[in-house]
Amino acid sequence: MNYLVFGATGNIGARVTQRLIEAGSRPSVFVRNAMKAQSLFGDRVDIRRGDLDTPSPSLAAALDGVDGIFLLTDGPNLPDQDRAISSAALQAGVRHIVKLSTLDVLTGIGTGPWHAAGEVAVRDSGVPFTFIRAAGFMSNALSWSHPIRNEGILHSSTGEGRIAFIHPDDIAAVAATVLIAREHDNQTVVITGPEALTYKEMVTTISEAIGTSIDFREISDQQAYADAVEWGGEGPYVDALVDIWRAVRQGRLDTVTEGVRRIIGREPLSFTQWVAENATSFA
Ligand SMILES: NC(=O)c1ccc[n+]([C@@H]2O[C@H](COP(=O)([O-])OP(=O)(O)OC[C@H]3O[C@@H](n4cnc5c(N)ncnc54)[C@H](OP(=O)(O)O)[C@@H]3O)[C@@H](O)[C@H]2O)c1
Repeated sequence: MNYLVFGATGNIGARVTQRLIEAGSRPSVFVRNAMKAQSLFGDRVDIRRGDLDTPSPSLAAALDGVDGIFLLTDGPNLPDQDRAISSAALQAGVRHIVKLSTLDVLTGIGTGPWHAAGEVAVRDSGVPFTFIRAAGFMSNALSWSHPIRNEGILHSSTGEGRIAFIHPDDIAAVAATVLIAREHDNQTVVITGPEALTYKEMVTTISEAIGTSIDFREISDQQAYADAVEWGGEGPYVDALVDIWRAVRQGRLDTVTEGVRRIIGREPLSFTQWVAENATSFA
């Protein structure tokens, strides 16, 4: 099987690429920055340059000879990107598309509607697919490092609500397994971390790991929006984030599934482990 990875220079795509390499394949990566890809993977991948914001012949060329795709797209335009990629994939004779989607497709919260439309586009293409609907990533907690390091505080509008963040390595392990084993064609898999935790509990775990107390303060949705706009600017991403935090507080995102264990045969990694691996980001 020849694999092509989209988003290979990012958080999840890089891990998927690495796992495909470790499994003995030489994946191709569709990237806009070849130097970045080279510094991550050396000569162990084939680099196919292109930019999804400017659809061009690069997409068709990148898909030449490809059997399986790891599809990672992002942002409000992702349905169009998923449609362009999956219809080009059909033309190119691709046999399987594994799309990273989100658990929020089920609730319509945050980025859920973008991915729901992306899933429809992939399904409509007729190429066999697997949708991986992932819970929030543990790595989202890296955005807490600045206030924790500089002020010893985390402000959050999530209240006592819980969410089962998932370790990025588990998402990559599931994606690589599904790509290689082909046992989940035309299925949707829902994956979460091992337990639903409040933000306060997660902050306590970070505090214990770095040996410094961290204050947890609840804030309103309005304040959370204002804070997010300060670092992210106005736009659909910030709107999606505030939506997600509200849904966490309302107890709408506390789903825990057996998906990781079912697909890769071991329990999902804990938030405590993720914190141990990333403690220096918070100290
Ligand atoms: N965070 C969560 O809690 C969560 C939960 C469920 C699902 N998700 C989904 O996970 C995905 C994000 O994954 P991630 O954390 O791995 O993202 P990431 O680290 O931000 O990586 C994004 C990747 O996409 C590439 N990319 C962006 N725009 C591109 C373009 N126009 N053309 C070609 N490549 C482009 C980036 O390339 P460069 O290196 O050149 O920038 C990078 O490789 C999104 O679909 C999101 O909705 C996230």
